[in-house]
Amino acid sequence: MIDVVISAKNLTKKFGNLIAVNNLSLEIKKGELFGLLGPNGSGKTTTIKMMTGQLKPTSGDVKILGIDAISQPIKVRELVGIIPEQESPPSFLTAEEYLHFVAKIRKLDNIEEKCNYWFDFLEFDDQRQILCKDLSRGTRQKLMFAQAFLHEPKIAFIDEPLINLDPIIQRKVKDYLLGYVKKGGTIFFSTHVLEIAEEICTSIAIIDKGKLLYQGSLKDLKKKKQHLESFFLKLVKE
Ligand SMILES: Nc1ncnc2c1ncn2[C@@H]1O[C@H](COP(=O)(O)OP(=O)(O)OP(=O)(O)O)[C@@H](O)[C@H]1O
Ligand SMILES: [Mg+2]
Repeated sequence: MIDVVISAKNLTKKFGNLIAVNNLSLEIKKGELFGLLGPNGSGKTTTIKMMTGQLKPTSGDVKILGIDAISQPIKVRELVGIIPEQESPPSFLTAEEYLHFVAKIRKLDNIEEKCNYWFDFLEFDDQRQILCKDLSRGTRQKLMFAQAFLHEPKIAFIDEPLINLDPIIQRKVKDYLLGYVKKGGTIFFSTHVLEIAEEICTSIAIIDKGKLLYQGSLKDLKKKKQHLESFFLKLVKE
């Protein structure tokens, strides 16, 4: 059985004359904690949006769990969890209302219990009755994390998941992600924080100006005694 769960072939996105993603091909296997690294504006968010059926590529193909993300975007979004780069939960709902709302869309049973788990785990039970607009940035991020994993998706796409979280919650989230892939889930995440990638990723890709510069396992880099930061800087500068 082929265990490639995310497959992009010759993915390209143009915005006018700008080529945001340039002929990108990637294959990610089940159980990987994959990190997409690249400078600001290198095309990470655009790639995630195309992979999750939120943005139509100019050309190329994307398959998620074998499903075509271009022709079946809703099907893909039902199956995956997404933490967008810059998004807040609806201002007019409380944290609890928002999580229940997502749980209903996801057609979950035991909504109360599942939501309680996340309020407990991410330590914001005392914030449930607060309107999302009045939550701190980090707490909104916790809520976005919870909504992405509430339905226990097979794959989660997360765009900068740990920014704004305090060290205690960062540790919990990192351990959660490590446990999640151990149980057979797959994570695709983008980050600038190379230390986090180095700590938790099984494999990475580095892109710049929409082009793939490197894809490989972190073990290979470590074998070559390459430090991720110096490798990244050298590659991107070249
Ligand atoms: N809707 C859009 N219209 C026009 N240009 C866009 C649009 N979305 C993204 N771009 C451009 O595409 C390029 C890639 O942007 P993208 O957001 O994918 O980068 P990124 O790697 O996620 O950057 P960052 O690290 O800052 O989050 C940038 O030059 C950006 O300005
Ligand atoms: Mg981005």
